[in-house]
Amino acid sequence: MRKFWLGLVALLLGIMGPAVLSGKAVAADACVTAECHATMGKAAYVHGPVGAGMCTVCHAEARKGHPNKDKKPDFTLVAQGKALCDKCHQEKPVDRFEFKHTPVKRGECTGCHDPHQSDAPKQLKKKKTSDLCYLCHKNTQQIKKFLHGPVASGDCNVCHNPHSSPNPHQLEARGNDACFLCHEDRKAEFSRKYPHKPALESCLKCHDAHNSDFPFMLSGEGIALCYSCHPKVKAHMEQATVRHTALDKGPCTTCHTPHSSDYPRQLKTHTKDICYTCHKEMGSKVRAAKNMHGPVQQNDCYACHDPHGSKNPQILKKYFPAEFYKPYATENYAMCFDCHNKDIALDKVTTKLTNFRNGDVNMHFLHVNKEKGRSCKACHEVHAGDQDKHIRKEVPFGKSWMLPVAFTRTQNGGNCVVGCHKPKSYDRVNPVKYE
Ligand code: HEC
Ligand code: HEC
Ligand code: HEC
Ligand code: HEC
Ligand code: HEC
Ligand code: HEC
Ligand code: HEC
Ligand code: HEC
Ligand code: HEC
Ligand code: HEC
Ligand code: HEC
Ligand code: HEC
Ligand code: HEC
Repeated sequence: MRKFWLGLVALLLGIMGPAVLSGKAVAADACVTAECHATMGKAAYVHGPVGAGMCTVCHAEARKGHPNKDKKPDFTLVAQGKALCDKCHQEKPVDRFEFKHTPVKRGECTGCHDPHQSDAPKQLKKKKTSDLCYLCHKNTQQIKKFLHGPVASGDCNVCHNPHSSPNPHQLEARGNDACFLCHEDRKAEFSRKYPHKPALESCLKCHDAHNSDFPFMLSGEGIALCYSCHPKVKAHMEQATVRHTALDKGPCTTCHTPHSSDYPRQLKTHTKDICYTCHKEMGSKVRAAKNMHGPVQQNDCYACHDPHGSKNPQILKKYFPAEFYKPYATENYAMCFDCHNKDIALDKVTTKLTNFRNGDVNMHFLHVNKEKGRSCKACHEVHAGDQDKHIRKEVPFGKSWMLPVAFTRTQNGGNCVVGCHKPKSYDRVNPVKYE
């Protein structure tokens, strides 16, 4: 039966080829005359059999009394829905793939195609693809502020097959591959050493495929998007009384990449550079210094600072006195004692707690452990410096004076030339005698 139809069409098309191509209807069935169905075959795109004037391949015999006065259609169709189209279009059935577009499943081919002719290619009912879709769909794709490139131009078909596809939502590819159909050039951005988990799972966890109220078609604005999956960071930031200005000035992506990174924690640059991208002055000071403090050598700024904010000044993870003088309590210097012996300033006399001794007199105790005790930072650099034992070169004194500190290590001790007191030395083996 199918062969018969195809044969017939081929034969007629063969005979009337040029007329069909020029879009002129040929009165094969004598239906198209100056009086009747005169416009049939005149549109820009004419369906093959219509161009050939073969009305009866689809329409059965006229009912009695055609044409009737009521203008009711009185030519019955030889078959309904898809079965009609299948008479000639069986070679590659449009519903051959697993995920079928509902109108195709229902055989409503004429929902999109005019069976006769139209102004759009493939006898589509609308010229612009999105207009075609909106014949049945509510427009939710092109209404928000930021439109995706292909959506803005109404090319729904570049992603969705109008008929059927092996992929859900009749997409032309599955999962993230649907995005890489066009964003192939960005693939490298997603395959670095440390991928952000949601980006591996689905781009749609953060982006809308069609449109959004937020730039880059994101499903949320800036920080809010990140917070939606990182409630712990959100809670932490909300509790932080000391905010890192970086976060007031920009979103999380000033430091992190949303897709993947060559560095752990999705950081944009190497941990050794990330802080210095903004703290440039500090970067050049640290790099020019002779001695870097252990964690700074390791680029572990986070040992002491919390980049997301904290409850302590200077976004320090643990409390550390801002003052130079403070009554001593071991907890005050807990940050240092995370890594160093917490007893160094506890005992007045010692032979092992610290090397800062004159004989067995604990000089740390002497300076630090009192009502008006000195902070570690009165003597030590926390980041980097040029003197041994991270002794600072100068200490701010009062509002405007930088008090110089010259420290020289000796074999069994050291000596200090400072503004606080006369030059003094200490010696662990042969204690220096003081009054
Ligand atoms: C490929 C099959 C096919 C061919 C060939 C065809 N028709 Fe139709 N025609 C249909 C279908 C299907 C409908 C029902 C339309 C609908 O459901 O939207 C229809 C409906 C009609 C109608 C009534 C509704 C309307 O669109 O005005 C007329 C009149 C008509 N056809 C005339 C013709 C004439 C004249 C020819 C030959 C020049 C022709 N048809 C060739 C399939 C065809
Ligand atoms: C009697 C046979 C016949 C029937 C029935 C038929 N078609 Fe066609 N159709 C053709 C022929 C012949 C062509 C022209 C072939 C070509 O250009 O490759 C064609 C072309 C088309 C095209 C354009 C294809 C292209 O690549 O440009 C579409 C779309 C189409 N038909 C849809 C339908 C739909 C929808 C139905 C059912 C309502 C239908 N056809 C029923 C014979 C038929
Ligand atoms: C939702 C709208 C829609 C429905 C429903 C639909 N089509 Fe199509 N069809 C299209 C569009 C759009 C194209 C053009 C595709 C392109 O240009 O890539 C097309 C193209 C075609 C073509 C040309 C060849 C091809 O595959 O590209 C044929 C034949 C065709 N359709 C047949 C059918 C048949 C038969 C049915 C019913 C089973 C049907 N269509 C239902 C939208 C539809
Ligand atoms: C003739 C009516 C009709 C037209 C035209 C139409 N659709 Fe549909 N479409 C439906 C129906 C009915 C459903 C099933 C109900 C729903 O999900 O809304 C559907 C479902 C869909 C789905 C959902 C599939 C899923 O698995 O969730 C997508 C995607 C879709 N259509 C895309 C399109 C695109 C793109 C166009 C334009 C090329 C289009 N539709 C044109 C009727 C239509
Ligand atoms: C860049 C590719 C792309 C383009 C272009 C595109 N879509 Fe989609 N569409 C998708 C993806 C991906 C999904 C699956 C969404 C999801 O799972 O959240 C989808 C889902 C849909 C759905 C079903 C789910 C829903 O949101 O209701 C409809 C309907 C739909 N698209 C219609 C359209 C229409 C209409 C257009 C053209 C205006 C269009 N699409 C253009 C990728 C695209
Ligand atoms: C059919 C091709 C195509 C597909 C498929 C596609 N895109 Fe796009 N996409 C574009 C074009 C075109 C642009 C605009 C290019 C530009 O502005 O640089 C764009 C831009 C974007 C942008 C940047 C928007 C902006 O405001 O700068 C994002 C984000 C995006 N696409 C995500 C996706 C996601 C996610 C998917 C998969 C669901 C996807 N794209 C699939 C073509 C595509
Ligand atoms: C965790 C959320 C998230 C996921 C998942 C995600 N993105 Fe993004 N994407 C973003 C954010 C945030 C931006 C904005 C970048 C910025 O602010 O620097 C963006 C930007 C983009 C841009 C535009 C970049 C530019 O500079 O023009 C494209 C294209 C893009 N994403 C594609 C994708 C694709 C494709 C996928 C899936 C493979 C994906 N995204 C997965 C969050 C995400
Ligand atoms: C859709 C949910 C989702 C969104 C949105 C999201 N993330 Fe993630 N993120 C995750 C998951 C899941 C992990 C993996 C957590 C794990 O392995 O414990 C992760 C991991 C991370 C990591 C690495 C954590 C670690 O311990 O190595 C960072 C940093 C990160 N995300 C930052 C961001 C930023 C910045 C944004 C906003 C641009 C964002 N995330 C948006 C789900 C999300
Ligand atoms: C100033 C740079 C900077 C900004 C801005 C920033 N982060 Fe981070 N973030 C880091 C650094 C550095 C680490 C690694 C800390 C470590 O290794 O201990 C990190 C670690 C993380 C981690 C994994 C460890 C953890 O704390 O759970 C997540 C998740 C994270 N950031 C999310 C975010 C989110 C969400 C935002 C925006 C609200 C954000 N970050 C803003 C620098 C930043
Ligand atoms: C995007 C730029 C930026 C990045 C990256 C950045 N910061 Fe900041 N940070 C600032 C700004 C702005 C201030 C406000 C003070 C200023 O202007 O110097 C600040 C202040 C600070 C302060 C002092 C807090 C205060 O209350 O004055 C510390 C400590 C700090 N940052 C540590 C870090 C660390 C550690 C890193 C690396 C994880 C880092 N910052 C990365 C911009 C940044
Ligand atoms: C051992 C703990 C520790 C480490 C590690 C550390 N800091 Fe600090 N940082 C501090 C302390 C304590 C202060 C406060 C100093 C003060 O009050 O004078 C501070 C102050 C700062 C300040 C603000 C004051 C200034 O000097 O500009 C910045 C910025 C800063 N640190 C950045 C960094 C960066 C970047 C790193 C990593 C290279 C880092 N810190 C590593 C303890 C540390
Ligand atoms: C994350 C661990 C860590 C923290 C916290 C830390 N340090 Fe250190 N510190 C080290 C390491 C490792 C060394 C050895 C490498 C070096 O000479 O810097 C060191 C060395 C020192 C030295 C020189 C010791 C020597 O024998 O040469 C002094 C002094 C010092 N730190 C003081 C401090 C002070 C003061 C604090 C608190 C503000 C502190 N440290 C916090 C890890 C830490
Ligand atoms: C009055 C200046 C001064 C103060 C205040 C001070 N230190 Fe020291 N510290 C030194 C000197 C000098 C040395 C070098 C001892 C040596 O090796 O000859 C030293 C050595 C150290 C060392 C190396 C190990 C050791 O004990 O020999 C650590 C660790 C250290 N100090 C931590 C601290 C911490 C933590 C604080 C604050 C609680 C602090 N210092 C306060 C001057 C000081």
